[in-house]
Amino acid sequence: MNKDKKIKITPIEYGTVIDHIKNGHAMKVLRIIGVLDKKMDSIVSIAMNVNSSMGKKDIVKVENIEIKSDELDKISLISPRATVNIIRNYEVIKKHDVKLPEKVKGIVRCINNTCITNQNEPVEPEFDVIGKDPVTLKCVYCERDMKGEEISENVQ
Ligand code: CTP
Ligand code: ZN
Repeated sequence: MNKDKKIKITPIEYGTVIDHIKNGHAMKVLRIIGVLDKKMDSIVSIAMNVNSSMGKKDIVKVENIEIKSDELDKISLISPRATVNIIRNYEVIKKHDVKLPEKVKGIVRCINNTCITNQNEPVEPEFDVIGKDPVTLKCVYCERDMKGEEISENVQ
């Protein structure tokens, strides 16, 4: 492959790179890590549908901050194969996989419209993670199960 063609995505000096995101899911990752609703002045770059050896993927780069791993673990709900790279001085100094949490609070809306969490009551959605492949959640209030696309479509 032509070298110029290969270096299409600019390296960053400091920050967090979330790589191997399931293609098309970058915007949901931004929502999960709070980039869309928090006041944040970091430079954020997004690449979607990038070719990789394992098919297409999305990449999110957040400059100048090292995002805490418990925030990043929530990404596993929609993209279990995502990897997190911490960059300092242009070098990857830490690389880890996201790992599935045992409980999920907020983030996902319960798919059951009659659930207490969907009735304008001050009750935050909460789920137990009961399955890994596919990721399966059980609402602690109405006990409804949600899996796969049902989860990613209901990230709020
Ligand atoms: N990266 C970056 N800026 C840097 C170094 C790396 O944005 N200064 C990005 C790369 O573009 C890549 C990710 O961080 O998306 C991981 O980098 P690296 O470990 O060098 O790539 P790979 O070896 O291909 O990673 P993996 O084995 O996890 O696929
Ligand atoms: Zn519910």
